[in-house]
Amino acid sequence: GCQQANCSETLKEGMGLTPEGRRESRVCTVRVPINIALVKYWGKRDQTQNIPLNDSLSLTINSLHARTTLRVNYEIGTDSVKINGKSQTVTGSRYQRVFEEVRRWERKRKAGEVAEHPVSIQFEITSETNFPVSAGLASSAAGFAAIAECLQKIFGFTDSQKSQLARLGSGSAIRSIFGGLVRWRRGTQPNYEDSIAEQSFPSTHWPSLRALILVVDEGRKEYSSTDGMQRTVETSTLLERRIECCDVNIDKICAAFSNRDFSAMADMIMRDSNNFHAVCMDTSPPLMYLNDVSRTIIRLVHVYNEKNGSTVIAYTFDAGPNATLYLEEDTVQDFLDFATKQLRFAESAQTEVEEILGHKLDESVNN
Ligand code: DP6
Repeated sequence: GCQQANCSETLKEGMGLTPEGRRESRVCTVRVPINIALVKYWGKRDQTQNIPLNDSLSLTINSLHARTTLRVNYEIGTDSVKINGKSQTVTGSRYQRVFEEVRRWERKRKAGEVAEHPVSIQFEITSETNFPVSAGLASSAAGFAAIAECLQKIFGFTDSQKSQLARLGSGSAIRSIFGGLVRWRRGTQPNYEDSIAEQSFPSTHWPSLRALILVVDEGRKEYSSTDGMQRTVETSTLLERRIECCDVNIDKICAAFSNRDFSAMADMIMRDSNNFHAVCMDTSPPLMYLNDVSRTIIRLVHVYNEKNGSTVIAYTFDAGPNATLYLEEDTVQDFLDFATKQLRFAESAQTEVEEILGHKLDESVNN
């Protein structure tokens, strides 16, 4: 069931044979949240399996989620994927990669049995997100974790298989399987079976923690993470140094999280974000994900912390200009008042911050 998983199941149909002897379709719906990395995953040692060069660490943000329905039909037909009402290209996509893996596993499983019917499986996915997709807001993480969750329920896959499917869709999706503070280990086994995520702390360990997401630009990002990180692996000399530091930084953040030491954690979060974007700039040609508004936000956060006399807010940026800010509940309103006033006068701000979303981290979906 859904016990450990960070999902909620709302619908499930039984399976049987239709009067014509065909297997009945099966449907499953889950809701899976996004996660935002505190120590970023950037660079792969296996591109087809999405196996990372470094461990990464994230916080799952329960109130931003994908609600995904998967229907499996046991017949020959074209797979389809619809996100927020828009049909997606399946041929040659990551969806297809996931579907083909499931078909392969099912063929292998059936090989030993005397199959009454050949393994013809058709997949139909519809997904709705309550946040903008493709704006560097980790939509693929929530989406592929949801698909993997549905596939596990329908086909009875193991947790390890579920992780593999989520990772195959998008590396960062493997972390959305869990809530709270989650670590994805790069793994050392040649078959990659230990490249899996684990929960370091549940969100209940720190109930006053909040995430603020500043949507600077809702548009599609300039270079996808997949292409960007590959270019970094091929051209950046700083990446190697970054990778050496990730484990130590993760340990420091985990220790700070354990002690609810916000300023120690915040310092490491901002350092990792800046280190990650430095590596992006060290890529040739450079990956420039931050824009003027992003940089204004960085300055604002440091000014605010300085004014406060201690670090009470941290920023982090993924492969795009949108900011995720981490802070404690009692800082939210004061910072928002400060930021709204300052951003209005920021000369460098070409675009307004379009939307500010405040999110509780402990709004658990199902447990
Ligand atoms: C900057 O998981 O989107 O958000 O495995 O190629 O699908 P693929 O990459 P993806 O990369 C996420 C990069 C990041 C950092 C992170 O989430 O750890």
